[in-house]
Parts: sequence; C-alpha cells; structure tokens
Amino acid sequence: MTYDPTKQTREAAVVSYRHCQPSEAVAMCGIIVRAGVDDALDELVAGLENLEYRGYDSAGVAVRDDEGSITVCKREGETDALEAALEDRKLDGTLGIGHTRWSTHGAPSDENAHPHTDGANRVAVVHNGIIRNHDALRSELREAGHEFTSETDTEVVPHLVADALDDGADPETAFRRAIDRLEGSYAVAMLVGDDDAVYATRHGSPLVLGLGETANYLASDVPAFLEHTDRVVYLEDDDVVVVDGDSYRITDGDGTPVGRSVETVEWSAADARKGVYNHFMRKEIDEQPVSLRQTVEGRIEADRGVLEEFPPGSLTDVDDVVFVACGTSYHAGMYGSTLLRRRGIQATALRANEFAHDPMPLTERTLVVAVTQSGETADTLAALRAASESPAQTLAVTNVVGSSAAREADDRLFIRAGPEIGVAATKTFSSQVAALALLADRLEEDGAGSAGGEAASGRTVTADLTSLPNDVETVTNDEGAARLAAQYADAESYFFIGRGVGYPVALEGALKFKEITYEHAEGFAAGQLKHGPLALVTPATVVVAVFTGRNDDRTLHNIREAQSRGAPVVGVGPTSATAVREAVDEYLEFPDVNPNLAGMLANVHLQLLAYHAAEIRDRAIDKPRNLAKSVTVE
Ligand code: M6R
Repeated sequence: MTYDPTKQTREAAVVSYRHCQPSEAVAMCGIIVRAGVDDALDELVAGLENLEYRGYDSAGVAVRDDEGSITVCKREGETDALEAALEDRKLDGTLGIGHTRWSTHGAPSDENAHPHTDGANRVAVVHNGIIRNHDALRSELREAGHEFTSETDTEVVPHLVADALDDGADPETAFRRAIDRLEGSYAVAMLVGDDDAVYATRHGSPLVLGLGETANYLASDVPAFLEHTDRVVYLEDDDVVVVDGDSYRITDGDGTPVGRSVETVEWSAADARKGVYNHFMRKEIDEQPVSLRQTVEGRIEADRGVLEEFPPGSLTDVDDVVFVACGTSYHAGMYGSTLLRRRGIQATALRANEFAHDPMPLTERTLVVAVTQSGETADTLAALRAASESPAQTLAVTNVVGSSAAREADDRLFIRAGPEIGVAATKTFSSQVAALALLADRLEEDGAGSAGGEAASGRTVTADLTSLPNDVETVTNDEGAARLAAQYADAESYFFIGRGVGYPVALEGALKFKEITYEHAEGFAAGQLKHGPLALVTPATVVVAVFTGRNDDRTLHNIREAQSRGAPVVGVGPTSATAVREAVDEYLEFPDVNPNLAGMLANVHLQLLAYHAAEIRDRAIDKPRNLAKSVTVE
C-alpha cells in the first residue's frame, strides 16, 4: 500500500440504498472499515466479531457495490443476529463499513444500530463516541426538512454531509464540513454512494489504519484486522484519512497532508483468538505466566528494574506519585501505590472520574500516573488532561501502543500483556502491577523514596518478579476455585476482604465476581468489616479473605468476627500459612512468595473463582450484560 498525498476522489455512480431493516444510538463502540479488491462483507463481519468486546448491543454493516449502491443491514443483539440476517442477503462490494454498539443513549434496537444514513440514502456513517451538540444540530436539520429515523446522535452526521453534498461539495469537503460542526468525542467513518473511498476521522475516540496486501482497514482497535495485517498507522486527533483498496491519504484538520509513521504491531492474530478455550477470560487467565514474562522481559538486571523508558536520573524531580484509573486498573494503581509507600515513596491512588473534576493540589514534583489497559477510558483520559493542565508530570501505564493515553501523557510505560479481549480484565491487572513494581525501583533509585522504605531489608520485590510467572502457573493449574464456586453457588452474598496489597485484591476479586456472575459481591478492607458491613454478614454470606503473609494475624481476627455470625470463610493465602489454613473453612493456597507479590497470586485464584461461578450460572462471561471492554464515554 502506498501513501499518495495527491489522490483524489473518483467517478460518480448511481446510488440506491437497500435497508434489510431499519436501525440505531450512541456509545463506546467498535468500528471496522474494509476497502479491498474483492468483496468486503466477510472481513467486515469477522472484524465485528473481533470487536464485540467493545460493545454487543447491536451490529451492522453497509457495503457499497460497483454501481455505487449502498446496502445497509443491521440488527439488535450480538453479531450472530446480524450474521443470521445476512444469510439470505447478498451484499456484494469491495468497500464497506461496520459497527458494533454499546448503548449509552437510547435503547439497543434495530433502529438505533449503526450504520446510519441520510434521508436520500446517499451517505452511510458509523460512529464511536458522543456528539454532545446533536440536539441542536438535529433541530436545525429538522427545520431544514430532514427527517430522522433513530434516537441517536450519530444520525445527524449523514444528514450534515448530505446537506453539503447538495450544496455541491465533493465528498471530502462535505465530510470536513460535517465534522467541523461536531462537538464531543468521536471516531467517524463514512461511505458515499458516488465515491469509491471511505472517509474517516477521529477526535478523542480511537481509530487505527491497517495496511494489508490486498486491502486497507480502519478500526477502533487492532484485533479487528490483525488476521490480515500487522502494519498499522495510529491516527492523531483530527486527522482525516481517505482510504480505498490500494492507497490512503492523511491530512490534518486544515487539509494539509501529514505523514504518519507505519508501525508493526507485535501482537499476533493467534493472541486475539480463543483457540481451544470456551472463553477469552479463561484463556487470558491462563496466559498470565506468559504475559507477565513479556512485561518484565529485558527490564530486570541484577534484581533491579531497568526501564528503557526511564534511564537512571530520569525521575529525580519526582517527590510524590498520584495514580488515576478506573475499575481493575484503579485496583492495580492502589496496589502500586501500596508498593511505593512501602518503599518510602509518597503515593496515592484516586478514581479517575473523581480526580478529573475535583483534582487534588499537584506540584511540578508530582508524577500523575494514568493506569489504563486500553488507553482510551474517557474518565481516565479526563483525569490525565486535568493533570496535564496542572504543573504535574504525567505518565501513562497502558497496554495499547498508540492509544490516546499513550499519546497524551508526557511519558509512557507499556505493560506488554498482549491483546485482552474478555471484558473482565485479568492478565492486564498482573502486568500493570508488575510494571508499577519496576517503576518503583527507578523512583526509589532516583531519590523519590527519601522517606525511608523497606527495599534495603531482605529480598527485593523485583528479584521475586522473575519467578512469579511460574508461581502464577501453579495457581492456574489449581482446581480449588472451581470446586468452591460449586460448593458456594447458593450463597446470597460474597464478601472479599484483605489488607495491605490484599485490599486492592479484595476489591478486584469482588469486582470480577459481580461483573461476570451478576451476584452480589463487595470488597472491603479487612479492618473495616466491623465498622458497618458486618451487619450484613449471615450464614448465607461467603467471606473470601486474602492473606499475603504480612499482618495476617489481624485479618484472622476479622474472619473470626464473620465466622461467629455463621459465615463460611474461604482463605486465599500462602502454602506455609498454617495458622490461617487452620482458622478458615476452606483454603486456596499459592506458593510462598514475597508478601508484596502475594496479592498477585491471590488475585489469580479470585479470577478463577469468579470465572467458575459465572460458568455454573451460564453467564455471558466474555460479554457481561450492560458492560463493554473499553468505556470511551464519561
Ligand atoms: O482500559 P482501562 O483499563 O482504562 O479500563 C478501566 C475499566 O473500565 C476496566 O478495568 C473494567 O473495570 C474491567 N472491565 C473490569 O474487569
């Protein structure tokens, strides 16, 4: 594929749209575009399947044939429903766009599914993000005679483009005029019947260009087209890309050609496939020994973290660290902040959505670390942007090269976990914590740990990180969690408690459990149980207690408080913790490790507990209801 900055749109053609069903609404969604020399449909549908983790309320495609007719087919439900609808339909054409949706405004429905078209059926659009001024645009367009068929913000876009086309603009100009009117965050891709290119742009929502041998692609994320190519261009905000089967052209918001480097993705297509597994989540749990090795590979020398991204002396101007993140990544940030504090480094973890709009005082010697698997979580990006406006330094710890967080932060540290498809984050949690443990070495050596930490005494965390993957494998091979998931399947509530690094792990265990089983699960600091939650504990409450080999005697007091109310207690702790083993009703053990890392091993047991409990209940483990992998709306 070649970059051709002079390439222009081509011949006009007759357009006719055929809807196999009306459709649409808003979201954090998945976009796929495919422009090639042969029919696009199969690759579009396969791309949607690979993007389903981004949303699965509805899915749709629009394909342009050689005569310039565009056919749209879209369905409420998962991609399967779309595939069924496509079975007896013929959507020939080398150019197509597709979309899988996670609704934030408007119910999931055929009408609200993407793609959306204008009234005259000349333009088809897919969109990820939110157009905040869509009400005003819709009113204006209605007054001008436009009629709408969905409740979505997206639908204003094809109507705006159609207006510009009616005014005599060429498709690219019409596209630019339309997107110039939009406020909010969006990635948008557009097909026009009388043109054989796709037009796309991004503004705050991800969009990556894939360059294949016989086709080009655009998608919200690389796994959508990884089967076909690993050569990618990460687009910048406000880039406009015009792509067809054998070329592409990128210009900035003003229409000036811009060069963007072509990069090779290190993930393999097999990484993004389920293989022999029934669920991505289980595959990704089992992948942790490998993903952890990838995280630390080449980053440990003489039992110390050596990060290429942070050479000695690069963090001498840091006094304190603030982690901002959401969900599982927040728990990794909490874990990291505990590790840092234990090294004498002042550190705090805050929920990104709270920090973003109510930030704490920051100085130029504060390092704000945004922890985010996807690098696209809107709340975390908002926090990162708030920090960028302060004197603080910013760092993104992320899994996705080219993500918004990676591009917007002053510095970036990649966790190298490989693609994570299951909505429930698993392997990325352990890689995030490992990456933060390595970062702690640099911070400490550069003087941030002046408050006097624990690293000097005994074996360092980093030294033990090297053997951790083998220990994780011991846990993934353990069948104890499967047995206990069945044994306690009838419980009314599941409480998870822990202290120190066991506290974020307790929160993470509860999040994982509720997320995929839909059962009531809560996480608490072990010492907090007696300050309120104990009132809820009955014999029908299973209490899962995390032990790390540090301050375990205190947690033992806490479990006795629960046991005396009749609650069964499952301990999760090191093999040698005899007193714990004797005190609890059931025990999930892991190899003895540095207590700082013990939480990571306990967490794998909790991942398996949630997985098996969800399996027993026949839940949609990889695509839990109401959720999506990457939440790109605030
Ligand atoms: O991509 P991020 O790490 O920023 O995502 C943050 C959360 O949305 C995410 O960790 C979520 O909590 C997980 N799906 C939970 O398993």
